[in-house]
Amino acid sequence: MERPALIQTVSAVRRRLAPERAAARTIGLVPTMGDLHEGHLSLIRRGRSDSDVLVVSDFVNPTQFGPGEDYRRYPRDLDRDAHICAQESVDVLFAPSDEEMYSESFSTYVVQETLTNKLCGASRPGHFRGVTTVVAKLFNIIQPDVSYWGQKDAQQVAVIKRMVKDLDFPVRVVVCPTVREPDGLAISSRNRYLSPPQRKDATSLYRALQKTKEIVASGETDSSRLLTEIRATIARAPSAKIDYAAIVHPETLQDVDNIDREALVAVAAWFGSARLIDNLLISPPDRPRK
Ligand code: PAJ
Repeated sequence: MERPALIQTVSAVRRRLAPERAAARTIGLVPTMGDLHEGHLSLIRRGRSDSDVLVVSDFVNPTQFGPGEDYRRYPRDLDRDAHICAQESVDVLFAPSDEEMYSESFSTYVVQETLTNKLCGASRPGHFRGVTTVVAKLFNIIQPDVSYWGQKDAQQVAVIKRMVKDLDFPVRVVVCPTVREPDGLAISSRNRYLSPPQRKDATSLYRALQKTKEIVASGETDSSRLLTEIRATIARAPSAKIDYAAIVHPETLQDVDNIDREALVAVAAWFGSARLIDNLLISPPDRPRK
């Protein structure tokens, strides 16, 4: 089992990738904040199977955490991540320091203006500014042909797709399905903050989404009725404090009143100190053919 090249500076990763690019090998990038789990692995495996050179970035990005968020306690274990990347035949693990990414004079940010103030952006002001900024930097550093993203962070996907389009990054955005625990809970680094009762309650997010899917399949497509049901399901979990439940257009993130085409049903709730999110893309029931 060969270990991937662990590279911690911008100049070294550029040196490593220049000959690959010159040889027209395709470069895939999986951006992560480390603490690799099955969700990340699904992206890494997809990237491994369709790019010649696979880069995983591992950087807990300070600019996307707000004051009072979990930046300091966010789990970090580079040795473990390197071991996992070796098992998955990752070519390069890019794990820069904070100083490497953000010099003292750092003062240039990338801001997507229309998709970032709602849903998660409403309760995490500045979060997406940090995400777009670090991802723009990673795209410039690695210059990947393809990048891999999880549907779990549906708003992040919408924001990154828009940034790629608006700023003409020559990078394909591939979205992979949400990986779940057997009981449906979306896998997340933040699940480890949950106490056993909160862990049990956290399944209410997925249950609410699944139930919505069933109700829509039975013909009820009115968003406000569906949202009432979603909120009630989550509220039945004793430790849940709902942040938002929304039914929106998957790309514009505008509210939709009725599911008459594919819609993004997105939820966020607090369970103790852990803020968890989940979503499902739901299509309207098939209309009977004339
Ligand atoms: P992080 O939370 O580490 O997630 C890295 C990637 O893994 C994201 O694309 C995320 O959507 C995906 N992912 C996480 N859990 C998943 C799951 N259960 N199923 C499928 N995919 C999952 O997202 C970030 O890091 C950061 O914002 C980043 C893009 C790296 C910028 O700092």
